[in-house]
Amino acid sequence: MVQSCPEASPAKWHLAHTTWFFESFVLSEFLPEYRLFNPDFSWLFNSYYESFSPFPEKKLRASFSRPSLEEVLAYREHVDTAMECLFEREPEPEALRRIELGANHEEQHQELLLTDILNAFFTNPLRPMYRDQGLGIGDRQMRERGSEGAREQGSKATPPLEFRQFEGGLREAGHTGEGFCFDNELPQHRVWLEPFGLANRLVTCGEYAEFIAAGGYTKPELWLSAGWDAVKANGWRAPLYWTEKDGEWTVFTLRGVLPVEQVASAPVSQVSYYEADAYARWAGRRLPTEFEWEAAAEGQPVDGNLLDAGNLTPVSTALVQNQENTKCFGDCWVWTGSAYLGYPGFRPLDGTLGEYNGKFMSGQMVLRGGSCVTPAAHIRATYRNFFSPETRWQFSGIRLAS
Ligand SMILES: [Fe+2]
Repeated sequence: MVQSCPEASPAKWHLAHTTWFFESFVLSEFLPEYRLFNPDFSWLFNSYYESFSPFPEKKLRASFSRPSLEEVLAYREHVDTAMECLFEREPEPEALRRIELGANHEEQHQELLLTDILNAFFTNPLRPMYRDQGLGIGDRQMRERGSEGAREQGSKATPPLEFRQFEGGLREAGHTGEGFCFDNELPQHRVWLEPFGLANRLVTCGEYAEFIAAGGYTKPELWLSAGWDAVKANGWRAPLYWTEKDGEWTVFTLRGVLPVEQVASAPVSQVSYYEADAYARWAGRRLPTEFEWEAAAEGQPVDGNLLDAGNLTPVSTALVQNQENTKCFGDCWVWTGSAYLGYPGFRPLDGTLGEYNGKFMSGQMVLRGGSCVTPAAHIRATYRNFFSPETRWQFSGIRLAS
């Protein structure tokens, strides 16, 4: 039931809330004999749907020690049983649409579970390790060679930063055709792109360490005004999970504490939009727009370092990148330079579910591509994630454009 920052939620809450979604938007409307598991759960596990019911303040989610985990799991069983009942009756098209949305919603929370556990473990001085460092992680060989070997290998393993050139022109952006998408990916519409270049890989921890060493966090000329305010107000001097002791930086991951040398060739993560923007300015580049990113990702297979790879942390680009193409998916969500707005002709879903995406279309930036904790089946080229620009607890990183 730990909630270590206002953006995060307790694991128990994620379990209950994803269950609540099916109860509230599917079963209560489409299974006539359905009985609520507990009427108090209706408001207790409502996240932000104003037109559904009142709900507790988000930062207070950890203050409810009841229901117990056992009770939450029983709630899930109750809802699963009812869902099976509904499936036997060939649900009407609207019910099927809501079920599909509920499944995609649950995938988003699978990602948030890990994002939030990482924050909870980081804020715990014991620094618990979520998963052993031994298996699955891409840079195991570097670790086995020790820190000196890692230092050497770390820089060697990083493929040179190159910019794949795109012609630009008139193209279609947004989702079309078969398969699920969120309302914010619609409607498909035309966008004009000037010729642009997109980096062949994400910015690495090693490169970001150079930005820090060059005084990146002390030079206001590199920062947007609101970004510089955030640096001063929050005392930022490195990404969220970087810690310095006696001049040595370490990075906290779901695989425990790693020396920065060991992850030098892995993508930098847990940076805000402001940091991504300042880094790009320092590097003489810029962030891509969401449509540039989409143009590059279109038609690519979704096979990067995603949840299914089991790394649970960004890994060395050399080990996941084995083709001349720009690989767009996985490791970290990339901050784009695009404000999160509705596409021309955007229409939110009808009713309460219209609150899912549409009401957040102010003061947030679009992120693309999924991360090392995003289920592979969940992500696609048109997928739009969004967070306010000072957000750092996400697996958010940097891809440069020119
Ligand atoms: Fe949710």
